[in-house]
Amino acid sequence: MKNSQNITWHHSSVSKKERHVKNGHKSCVLWFTGLSGSGKSTLANAVDHSLFHEGYSSYVLDGDNIRHGLNSDLRFGPADRKENIRRIGEVAKLFVDSGIIVSSAFISPFQEDRELVRQMFDIGEFVEIFVKCPIEVCENRDPKGLYKKARKGEIPEFTGISSPYESPDLPEIVIETDHMTITQSVEIIKKYLKDKKIL
Ligand code: ADX
Repeated sequence: MKNSQNITWHHSSVSKKERHVKNGHKSCVLWFTGLSGSGKSTLANAVDHSLFHEGYSSYVLDGDNIRHGLNSDLRFGPADRKENIRRIGEVAKLFVDSGIIVSSAFISPFQEDRELVRQMFDIGEFVEIFVKCPIEVCENRDPKGLYKKARKGEIPEFTGISSPYESPDLPEIVIETDHMTITQSVEIIKKYLKDKKIL
């Protein structure tokens, strides 16, 4: 039995559509997935910065930040990663309902967990962006020194080293961060949003 069994959904008196009309654009989640060090947070923040300065309503949800607050009770085993992604999915859904373009930057290594999040959204609202970068490059960048620690066995279940990363089969967008600049990548994502009439 779900804990929400005796709880009734209270419908909002302002619809998502009305919020879109007010904002002058639609809302969606840009779901950045990829290895640690692949560039998810950098890209999500660059897209957010560009959208914000062009007058769009946008926001970033970032793995490291959310794990300090909302998800500070979770670690990195498969069940905790699943719960991490489920909660982020629910939070992202609230942002999308509120009319905001939300960029989420989480490793989200498991295909099944990302699929569950996709299913929470209406068609076209979940935009999966595979931040593709060979692990050797990520490990060479090692911005937080975590790969080094993981190789020494100091971080258990580290994605790409001792825990798997399942690449998306059919992501809406693929960004190869070892071949593209941040500016080029942001333009590709904004072009997608314009082509899909989200902007
Ligand atoms: S996810 O797998 O559950 O989606 P999430 O994106 O929230 O991961 O958090 C990943 C961040 O946590 C990494 O960028 C890294 O800084 C840090 N981290 C700490 N331990 C691990 C680990 N075992 N595996 C991957 N990332 C880790």
